[in-house]
Amino acid sequence: MCAWRRESAIMPVKTEADGSPIQNRRSFLEVWAVLGSALIGSLLAVPLIRFAVFPLLHRTTELKSSPLGALSEFSSITEPVMRTIQIEQVDGWRKAISEKAVYITKDRQGQLRVLTSVCPHLGCTVPWNKERMQFVCPCHGGTYMPDGGYISGPALRGMDTLETSVEDGQLMVRFQYFRQLVSDKEVIG
Ligand code: FES
Repeated sequence: MCAWRRESAIMPVKTEADGSPIQNRRSFLEVWAVLGSALIGSLLAVPLIRFAVFPLLHRTTELKSSPLGALSEFSSITEPVMRTIQIEQVDGWRKAISEKAVYITKDRQGQLRVLTSVCPHLGCTVPWNKERMQFVCPCHGGTYMPDGGYISGPALRGMDTLETSVEDGQLMVRFQYFRQLVSDKEVIG
């Protein structure tokens, strides 16, 4: 065998895995393609994730104050006066508009106060009974004084007062819900 043949027999064969310039360039482009895809994928995912978790991250909106009428309209009332207000509540994607009855009345010092009509026992709507001059709940017979104070029945407290304010001469009320079946007034929404 000649010397040339012996030499070629021991020369290593070069393969693509040896890091040729072509192979390096291909690997580099593949890495960038993967990174680019991941970046575009995550950018597209952001709005979808925000859409999905929006109801979880956003709390129920605060209830706004509603007008009840001119303050002067209630200065001479001698018994509770009912008004119906519209309240809008946004809970995640759900928007609910409901009507609630409230009573404008006076406390023992003659100051105006506004009561929710929701019974503090189990939530029935409590009407004013003109003959008895009491609030009388139709569900379990709970009775309350004209200023909402507890008289009798299964409830553990009197009717709940609502936050009021005066804006441009208008009496405003902020409706809220309170926990039932407890002796202390506790806001739940
Ligand atoms: S819900 Fe009013 S007394 Fe029970």
